[in-house]
Amino acid sequence: MKINQFTWEKLKKPILALAPMAGVSDSPYRLICRELGADIVYSEMVSVAALCHHSPKTKSLLEFTDAERPLILQIFGSEPEQFAVAAKFVDAEVKPDGLDINFGCPVRDVIKTGAGCYLMKDLARSRVVLEAVLANTTLPVSIKVRTEVGGVTVLDLLDKIAGLDLKAIMIHGRTFSQKFSGPINIELIKEAKKRFKGVVLANGGLHTPESVAQVLADTGCDGVGLARGVMGRPYLFTQAREYLEAGKYQPPVFVDIQKIILRQAKLMAETKGPRGVMEMRKHLGWYVHDFPGAKKLRARFYACTTYAEIEQILLDNPLRFG
Ligand SMILES: Cc1cc2nc3c(=O)[nH]c(=O)nc-3n(C[C@H](O)[C@H](O)[C@H](O)COP(=O)(O)O)c2cc1C
Repeated sequence: MKINQFTWEKLKKPILALAPMAGVSDSPYRLICRELGADIVYSEMVSVAALCHHSPKTKSLLEFTDAERPLILQIFGSEPEQFAVAAKFVDAEVKPDGLDINFGCPVRDVIKTGAGCYLMKDLARSRVVLEAVLANTTLPVSIKVRTEVGGVTVLDLLDKIAGLDLKAIMIHGRTFSQKFSGPINIELIKEAKKRFKGVVLANGGLHTPESVAQVLADTGCDGVGLARGVMGRPYLFTQAREYLEAGKYQPPVFVDIQKIILRQAKLMAETKGPRGVMEMRKHLGWYVHDFPGAKKLRARFYACTTYAEIEQILLDNPLRFG
């Protein structure tokens, strides 16, 4: 074992994780979330086929800074051989703290190749994929799943992969048919927590510190994965931690939000250049969503091409809650 190697067991519980989000959980955003209290962060999903072909587009998805650690890199695909090559490459060249396999993406372009949710549906292939990954990495391996896909439940998957050395599982508590809305299945998550000996993180619909505390109490999970709840509100990590520890939390302060926005915008511009500013636009829209005049502000932000323009808009329009 490498010195100081990350292990899931070492994380203090309850664990607050930034869930993987394509187009959102990039390096700057992961850093912001870590600074605001996320215990661990997941990358955007990366295609194993693209990793095998060393696709230049994929390169930027693999970049991160040490301050983001512990960082879990998530990969998706359907071919065991590609998973094997990708796992070996990530282990040797990328060196994140853990490797996660996507079994929960419902997006058409992903499932039509047998990846994401459709991989979970094929239990035999799921096991072979995980064996291929485990044989080709020294990193802790984890999985992210849904509660049910095409009649296959998370419990069926856990039975099928019993005995494999998986360290953690994040369960999006919705079925494939639910896609991204509706309630999460507390009972199934609770049962999965009883059956899986590693770390279990509950995910889905967690938008407030109270809902985080409630789902932890109801499921007995070791932590949670936060996704849309932290879009434009990365400070939910701070608030959830405060609430779990003290039963209360501070409301967001507009000057702090302004500082967070500018920090993220600067990181985006510095690490990705003009493309980073373009990508920051949607985050800006989420940040100002609840502020008076959000519509006008969003329109101005969507025309920005430089960091300086974003800064000027915030100087002209200091954020206030009415
Ligand atoms: C924009 C977006 C991108 C996502 N990308 C990924 C991904 O790359 N990998 C993954 O496993 N899940 C992905 N998800 C799913 C989330 O991690 C999470 O499971 C889902 O949004 C449910 O949590 P929520 O209700 O708190 O948003 C994505 C979700 C969103 C909204």
